[in-house]
Amino acid sequence: MKDILTAPFVTEMTRMMSNMYRLGYDERNGGNISVLLDADDVAKYLNLDDVQDTIHTGFEAPELVGRIFIVTGSGKYFKNAETDPENNLGIIRIAGDGTTAELLWGLADGGRPTSELPAHLMSHIVRMKADPQNRVIMHCHPDRTLALTHVLPLDEKTITRTLWGMMTESIVVFPDGVGVLPWMVCGTNEIGRATAEKMKQYRIVLWAIHGIYGSGRDLDEAFGLIETVEKAAIQYFLTAGLPRVNFITDENLVDLAKAFKLDYRKDFLDL
Ligand code: 13P
Ligand code: ZN
Repeated sequence: MKDILTAPFVTEMTRMMSNMYRLGYDERNGGNISVLLDADDVAKYLNLDDVQDTIHTGFEAPELVGRIFIVTGSGKYFKNAETDPENNLGIIRIAGDGTTAELLWGLADGGRPTSELPAHLMSHIVRMKADPQNRVIMHCHPDRTLALTHVLPLDEKTITRTLWGMMTESIVVFPDGVGVLPWMVCGTNEIGRATAEKMKQYRIVLWAIHGIYGSGRDLDEAFGLIETVEKAAIQYFLTAGLPRVNFITDENLVDLAKAFKLDYRKDFLDL
């Protein structure tokens, strides 16, 4: 059996968490990540029959029975995961009843998976249907993205078009746009269901005055969506209050879409 602390699915996760912490995306315990793992891969490091604890998730996810995820712990600080993965992360498997999570490793101090487990697992179900290779759901609190939801109307067309207009790469990276939820109580099944509903058509979902969700095939892809949204939001605030005299027009966006062969939200432009 190999040492779990050397497993790429642990080391890549903790490196990503340190990076996100240093970027200021994850203050205190802010943010959470879940990654779908391959059972054969995990079996190289763990005895899959050794269930250390069972955790009631509070919702049913029959589609995920037998699926294994590495998840961040609730209340755990991103900055600490790299030096102490065993207390800050957990590897869970959804049991046959679809509502119990079996702890296979981690959360060694009696911790629990992220309080946003409903949003993560419900989003995994939806994103897997949209893209069978999707493995990552990532949530964090980047400053300018969050601030954007204080000042823009909370509709997907306005926010997506604003972000597309802030820099050329935006529409190339997220041609499918950005889903937006109104302010809601976090950590609930309700916000989990609402997030998953948005994830049917968007890989990115903003939670108003809270943060952002990104999804992807790997950590880089989910993070890449989030950092690109944040970069565009930075442009928005760097130019806010200044006389903006140059713009990316709807026609420019169409030209970009043609050049990069993008399947984009045409209804978000006013042509
Ligand atoms: P957890 O510490 O439970 O993951 O919660 C952090 C967070 O960002 C809540 O939305
Ligand atoms: Zn949060």
